[in-house]
Amino acid sequence: MLATQSCSTLIHDLTEQLANARHQTDTLFDLVKPDSLYERPISERHRIIFYIGHLEAFDWNLFRERALGLKAFHPEFDRLFAFGIDPVGGGLPTDRPSDWPSIAAVQDYVRRIRSVLDEKLTGALLDSNASTSDGFPLATLLNVAVEHRLMHAETLAYMLHQLPFDRKKPQTELLSVNTPAVVHRSIEIPAGAVTLGLPRGGDSFGWDNEYEAHTVNVPAFAIDQHKVTNRQYLEFIAAGGYETAAFWSDGDNRDNNNEDWNWKSRQGVSHPAFWKRQGQQWLYRTMFEYVPLPLDWPVYVSQAEAKAYARWAGKSLPTEAEWQRAAYATPQGDERPYPWGAKALGAAEPAEHFGSFNFARWSPVPVNEFPLGQSAFGVDGMLGNGWEWTSTEFAPFPGFEPFPFYRGYSADFFDGKHFVMKGGSARTAACMLRRTFRNWFQAHYQFIYTGFRCVSR
Ligand SMILES: [Fe+2]
Repeated sequence: MLATQSCSTLIHDLTEQLANARHQTDTLFDLVKPDSLYERPISERHRIIFYIGHLEAFDWNLFRERALGLKAFHPEFDRLFAFGIDPVGGGLPTDRPSDWPSIAAVQDYVRRIRSVLDEKLTGALLDSNASTSDGFPLATLLNVAVEHRLMHAETLAYMLHQLPFDRKKPQTELLSVNTPAVVHRSIEIPAGAVTLGLPRGGDSFGWDNEYEAHTVNVPAFAIDQHKVTNRQYLEFIAAGGYETAAFWSDGDNRDNNNEDWNWKSRQGVSHPAFWKRQGQQWLYRTMFEYVPLPLDWPVYVSQAEAKAYARWAGKSLPTEAEWQRAAYATPQGDERPYPWGAKALGAAEPAEHFGSFNFARWSPVPVNEFPLGQSAFGVDGMLGNGWEWTSTEFAPFPGFEPFPFYRGYSADFFDGKHFVMKGGSARTAACMLRRTFRNWFQAHYQFIYTGFRCVSR
């Protein structure tokens, strides 16, 4: 798509996208009461103040030397705010609020970087062949900056979700809980081919892990038409799902064996992280309040919990290729750009007809809210309203090469402990709803907007 646009459109488009992405993250930080910016809502993550500095330090470290040839003005902050954290199996951060700089100092750092980048990038982008010292087009780096920030707009929402309500500025949100009753059924997907990945040398932007394009032949399977709902997950809990070890291990020594059961027992996990028991009632924690559990919303759980449910149901999680085929393949043998067809998500097409994404809401909606978004096979709600776990380990496609300017983006997570998620949530930006985008998380992380559906083979 990018190559068909004129240079000026491209510059305008990308700089506008960066401005919009900044607006998204600024709005999120503005949700937090000023006296709460040094809180750490999730113990595996940094304090909120880190992320205010990080989003700017990332852009600055990306462009400063390699694209713009500028000198650092605050190297200490450039390092302090360079990298987030994702500890696997312990090693939680122990820093104190007083270890971090003042809000005023961080805000000053942010302002200064934005002002320099806005001035210099506009100038540099006027050269249509502008590239970096790595030989990458400047436009690629700008896409990296935009999508990095938009991904944080989503993961920051996860984090602020766990911040106590009284530390956030209250907002009212109209919740959707009433749609026709959900009828659950399985949809048969015949054996056939599906494309994973992006062809190198194409026009559209993709992250390193999206390359390269290749075809996978997928045997026939059946997949749930809808994501698993809170109502269905309650049945698993009522059946003693969290107390039955057999559901938490494959028992064949291949699948982490007892790691999931040990994690669940050690952490005392007995229900989804977004749920809370009050007397005989289950409550759901939205961003701003507790509400009675909306039964037809998708359940959001860790991959370990999703797999336990699937075993209880006598089913499995889909592989990445199965999910891709259910979403994008057609009975005629071709593939669609989006599950619902070729209609792109743009100004001309009201995206809200097809699913819940692009920051339109904070909370989920019932799993059958958007029938127009169904795939060619009739599978419902595959983009938006919550990512979906697959059983596929996050690993490189054949021909993978890390971006030299961000070597660890994917490669740091090829460790057998992270798994591919597909789809998108209410807080996923429209530009990342492309067919090849791959998200991933560790199997025991509960605080993400991620559900699942099951398959039978
Ligand atoms: Fe980051």
